[in-house]
Amino acid sequence: MAKGPTDPILRTDLAGLTLRNPVILAAGTAGYLDEFQDALNLARVGAVIGKSITRLPRDGHETWRIIESDSGMLNAVGLANMGLDAWTRDLAPSIAHRAAAIGLTPFGSISGFSIEDYLAVADAMNKAEGLPAVEINVSCPNVHTGTSFGESPDMLRDLIAELRATLTAKRMIVKLSPLVFGPMLDIARAAIEARARPGGPNNTPGADILCISNTMPAMAIDVESRKPRLSNTTGGLSGPAIHPIAVRLIHIVYKEVAKPAGIPIIGLGGVLRWQHAAEFILAGATAVGMGTALFVDPRSPIKVASGLADWARRQGASNIGELVGGVVVHPDTR
Ligand SMILES: Cc1cc2nc3c(=O)[nH]c(=O)nc-3n(C[C@H](O)[C@H](O)[C@H](O)COP(=O)(O)O)c2cc1C
Repeated sequence: MAKGPTDPILRTDLAGLTLRNPVILAAGTAGYLDEFQDALNLARVGAVIGKSITRLPRDGHETWRIIESDSGMLNAVGLANMGLDAWTRDLAPSIAHRAAAIGLTPFGSISGFSIEDYLAVADAMNKAEGLPAVEINVSCPNVHTGTSFGESPDMLRDLIAELRATLTAKRMIVKLSPLVFGPMLDIARAAIEARARPGGPNNTPGADILCISNTMPAMAIDVESRKPRLSNTTGGLSGPAIHPIAVRLIHIVYKEVAKPAGIPIIGLGGVLRWQHAAEFILAGATAVGMGTALFVDPRSPIKVASGLADWARRQGASNIGELVGGVVVHPDTR
């Protein structure tokens, strides 16, 4: 008998965390914790990643900061969020209780503009009860260098090594950008193998989980006014347009880096239907994030999870995890 999103065939092991299914609501698209419950029963998804928290509160950019494009959405929200103090005071103490009340698995998310920024929030999240994993958004510009932490293996290695020493009680998800200067594989390796600079005190490895990937840098122009359509001029493209890009990134990172290291991947980018999620799984993702889809149909994660259960059964799997990385490629191609 079909059980939809709670079908046991969907039970997912994500770096030792058991999720009821592999569908995860993406950071910044589903509130801080349980606000989305009005639109979608959060006991029917695998996990919810909260809005990224920064050390200081942020109003974000002015309107327009979210616009439609032909094939998705462009956003330059500017990391608008309540900030660390409000998060620690108003949200952290109630996470475990509120999540348990509705059967929700909450993950945290951190953004920052310096290593110190990230560490301040990581310290608070590490102490929070009921938060089994914390995602690190490394697509933020470093205030000292102007480039994103996630664009340079050296910067990423330094950041993740320090975070690893702070996030001792949580699974650490490192969320990569789809656009990096240099080989993506070096970035993925840096996230997994992060170690302190030579001579430093920390010698522990880095990420427990990779998330691939964030939005794609993009821009739209109003041709009558000749002005950019986003107040910030540029933003991040999400939705169906970036899906095939993410499929390829997951495929190459899974094969070359994540599978050999035993590190699971959360696939993210343009999942609207179960087929998109299934593609991510075949490419090598253990779990699948959804963001833009929630703006189109807030209940789509349930439909995606149900579709995955039927698909896994048709494929002859006894658990969805058996299909991870199952794409059949010609041996001479990458
Ligand atoms: C309005 C909006 C706000 C977002 N805010 C965050 C954020 O705070 N932190 C983060 O890591 N990603 C953020 N993202 C990126 C999403 O988590 C996700 O990586 C991206 O939208 C691609 O997935 P999708 O195509 O399913 O939307 C945001 C995306 C949107 C559309």
